[in-house]
Amino acid sequence: MASQHRVLLLSGPNLNLLGSREPSIYGTASLQEVVDLATREAATVGLTVEHRQSNRASDLVEWIQQSDHHAIVINAGAFTHYAWSIHDALRSFAGKVVEVHLSEPLRRESWRHQSVIAPVAHGTIAGFGDEGYVLAMRAVSLLLAR
Ligand code: DQA
Repeated sequence: MASQHRVLLLSGPNLNLLGSREPSIYGTASLQEVVDLATREAATVGLTVEHRQSNRASDLVEWIQQSDHHAIVINAGAFTHYAWSIHDALRSFAGKVVEVHLSEPLRRESWRHQSVIAPVAHGTIAGFGDEGYVLAMRAVSLLLAR
């Protein structure tokens, strides 16, 4: 089991509205509740979580550049589909990267079908609602144990 590994959990635009934003798609849990769920799961597999959210791509790029965490779990929100600056920042990140989405973008509008994060992530978890964050922490644990 991984021990004392640190995970940076990043949330992109509009995820601060979780709970009230389109609950039929994104669920009724607030972002804090989702982060708490992820943090509790992470603790069971020996990970600590630091969470940051921003509606600005530049914040996410800077946090990735500054990160010395062992892994990044990122839900880049709509930036997922076009923010090549975040793609490039993740390319230079030395640790593991797991992409997570509450919904399954491939079952939605065609403009959501491309992810610029996926090519620089070790894997993507999508369509499991807030439990996807639990799966993402387990995925990080598995990747770090390899
Ligand atoms: C999302 C999916 C994106 O297409 C959307 O823009 C979001 C949330 C998800 O978690 O399902 O903001 O990343």
